[in-house]
Amino acid sequence: MQNFVFHNPTRILFGEGQIAAIGPEIPSGARVLITYGGGSVVKTGTLAEVKAALGDIPFLEFGGIEPNPTYETLMQAVELARREKVDFLLAVGGGSVIDGTKFIAAAIPFEGEPWDILAKHAPIARAVPFGSVLTLPATGSEMNAASVITRSATRDKLAFIDPSVFPRFSVLDPTKTYTLPPRQIANGVVDAFVHIAEQYLTYPADAKVQDRFAEGLMLTLIEEGPKALAEPENYAVRANLMWTATLALNGLIGAGVPQDWATHMVGHEITALHGLDHAQTLAVVLPAMLQVRRFDKRGKLLQYAGRVWGLREGDEDARIDAAIERTRDFFESLQVPTRLSGYGIGAEAIAPLVDQLERHGMTALGERQDVDLARSREVLELAL
Ligand code: NZQ
Ligand code: ZN
Repeated sequence: MQNFVFHNPTRILFGEGQIAAIGPEIPSGARVLITYGGGSVVKTGTLAEVKAALGDIPFLEFGGIEPNPTYETLMQAVELARREKVDFLLAVGGGSVIDGTKFIAAAIPFEGEPWDILAKHAPIARAVPFGSVLTLPATGSEMNAASVITRSATRDKLAFIDPSVFPRFSVLDPTKTYTLPPRQIANGVVDAFVHIAEQYLTYPADAKVQDRFAEGLMLTLIEEGPKALAEPENYAVRANLMWTATLALNGLIGAGVPQDWATHMVGHEITALHGLDHAQTLAVVLPAMLQVRRFDKRGKLLQYAGRVWGLREGDEDARIDAAIERTRDFFESLQVPTRLSGYGIGAEAIAPLVDQLERHGMTALGERQDVDLARSREVLELAL
């Protein structure tokens, strides 16, 4: 096991009715800015519930944060918050709203051009504190310090990670996910699954607990994902799905183990150029990525085949092939296509995607930094 520091300061308020408990989580005297997305929380009543829970706490609102949140929109919130001297943010929505709120939180006190936080990894001296009310289990943003922001003008989709943007608290009420369209539930299952894969399908590191946690989370997604689609108001299923997605990317299973993230980096470029949902890009890239890197990942792929898919007999290469095919079939069974052609994207798209990777310095990806541009190209070709 590798050395690690693990610290996760986010308080989780889990379960039905927990929105009512947010008042005491907000510092007394705070001026709050509620942030939300394109209006789902207005329609579902979640926003009204949040406002009611705030009671006498004064608040402003900023809506319109889009999926794959943009710098352009978020800077309007930064201006509003600076003007109104907001000192606490409350994100109500999915990963995009929470990621966007992290950027707003870091940008408000930032001196200089806030885009540098993403483009130049400019250090963040401090961030405005914030909490979240999660409505879409997928990204883990509700309990991590990562944020992914898109600049529409230049088609850059970049990430930053900083301990100052851990949410102070997050409410995870599974009933708030009942209104999700099937596509977003499927996206959430795929995204969480690939988060686990990025931290587990690398090389053996004698990290038994992390491995078994990862396998348990994957097995839970395989069991509960289809049920979440079939029975949208099954509380137990949604509760298991929600907690699994959070644990998939809150630092726990990634502590002390090598991490990959090449699938995500290639996926971000597909979203930036072609507008696919984040999880759709992962469903396309992961099976091809595993196939191209099967020799480097052999030990873990065999463990994955055996412990997650029950493939323990016969030729080792055949087991690896079957495990990759099972992964693909699982995503397809959730109605998430796993080939670029499934989204109308052909071979002509590959060169611009590789150029984007180069422009963003994504030239040595993966747990061994050996996924260069040629390998990324190979992955994309196999994903056609
Ligand atoms: O915008 P509204 O109207 O709220 O609608 C949203 C949006 O259209 C809708 N939605 C959310 N909750 C709902 C709902 N509709 C009905 N009922 C509800 N309860 O769902 C749509 C998608 O929402 P979005 O927040 O974009 O989805 P997701 O949570 O999958 O977030 C994706 C973003 O997170 C980033 C992705 O790159 C992408 O930008 N990621 C963030 C990570 C992190 N912070 O650690 C890691 C991930 O790998 C990922 O990169
Ligand atoms: Zn993801």
